[in-house]
Amino acid sequence: MSEIQVRAAQAGEYGAVQAVFGGAMMFDPKPDELWQQLFEPDRALVATDGGQIIGTTRALTRELSVPGAVLDAAHVTGVGVQPTHRRRGVMSQLIGRQLREVPEAIAVLWASEPAIYGRFGYAAAAWGVEYTVDLHRVGPSNDRIRPGELGVLSVDEALKELPAILRRLQTQRSGVSGRSDLRWQARLQDKPDDRGGRTERRILVHRDETGSIDGYALWRGKMAWGPTGPASEVSVEELVAPELPAYKALWQHLLTMDLSAKLTYEYAAVDEPLQQLVTYPTALERRLGESLWLRVTDVQRALQQRRYATPLDVVLDVTDNLIESNTGRFRLTADGSSVRCERTDDPADLSLAVTELGATYLGGRSLSEFATTGRVAEHSPGILTHTTAAFGWPIAPVSIEVF
Ligand SMILES: CC(C)(COP(=O)(O)OP(=O)(O)OC[C@H]1O[C@@H](n2cnc3c(N)ncnc32)[C@H](O)[C@@H]1OP(=O)(O)O)[C@@H](O)C(=O)NCCC(=O)NCCS
Repeated sequence: MSEIQVRAAQAGEYGAVQAVFGGAMMFDPKPDELWQQLFEPDRALVATDGGQIIGTTRALTRELSVPGAVLDAAHVTGVGVQPTHRRRGVMSQLIGRQLREVPEAIAVLWASEPAIYGRFGYAAAAWGVEYTVDLHRVGPSNDRIRPGELGVLSVDEALKELPAILRRLQTQRSGVSGRSDLRWQARLQDKPDDRGGRTERRILVHRDETGSIDGYALWRGKMAWGPTGPASEVSVEELVAPELPAYKALWQHLLTMDLSAKLTYEYAAVDEPLQQLVTYPTALERRLGESLWLRVTDVQRALQQRRYATPLDVVLDVTDNLIESNTGRFRLTADGSSVRCERTDDPADLSLAVTELGATYLGGRSLSEFATTGRVAEHSPGILTHTTAAFGWPIAPVSIEVF
């Protein structure tokens, strides 16, 4: 049998890497200058067989909001193995090496299938909710919109205005990925081939009373007619409005679009405020799924980099089958202003695998949830409840973009 080699990608290999990923995911990659510029060859790994690339994984340099902070997080993407080479351990080699090499203390990804990444210590850390909204039933609140309150922007204007609003969302919610200028340009590209029969992308914005833009929605429409009349569809691709007046006005506008019967939105949080603002929340048909998966690659650094909801002093006994330096006991203390995480020989209060640390890192899942199935064990009475409260966070995490 031929021997598989794993190595870093080279600068000229973007096309070959995309071809393998496209082959694995069943799409035909098209040349794209902006996405090519975002390729970080030194952060991509390829598996080769006889010199041919047959497997890939990539890490993107991006920031992520976590409880009380915004951190560097390896954004893992482009994981694929050519169908002729599957189930021979190629992905395991690629992911294992990637996780041991990334300099960031956490890695995140969106999984095509939930069964793939748990074995590598990843866990779903944020749920996502897909809405399919029956616009005839939903009944949004009917507040008046001030003249000039809503408007549309060109892409050039949006490139100047929208980044600051996304950064504000990062201070409010965990799980939100940062975007460089180049990534914003790629995000706002609107190629006819990518529209799926829908209109051009509209960039709707809200202005506060001083005229400053404080919220936006990226959306498209699709004209349709049903047996009883107009039945157009509104697809909301992204809606970012950290302040309530902007949030309400943008949703009200989108939920009351003339001729429309249906609205879709794929990136709602489990505690999305929209549920409180409509008359019939059941008209928001909601489908829950895993969104952001998170893997702690450096336990000490990761636990020290986030903030905690209550003061804490706990010894965690952590196991990690892939990254040896993560295995052992760590004392984690937090007192509101500072956080420390240090190795210790003291007896453990809780024992758990690195997977459960990933699941609870964004504050959206609870340590107690995992104690019910034995994945977290309590050794000091009462400490589980206390640590669960400290790891939790008042606002649910959300990831608003598949990367
Ligand atoms: C998912 C994929 C990358 C796996 O590659 P691979 O080289 O076959 O994986 P490995 O041989 O290293 O598999 C390791 C283990 O994961 C399991 N596994 C792999 N893919 C799986 C899947 N889709 N669902 C469930 N288990 C899976 C294997 O059975 C194996 O289990 P074992 O250790 O108990 O035998 C490959 O099948 C692929 O390219 N799929 C399509 C693209 C895709 O979904 N990529 C992920 C994007 S997020």
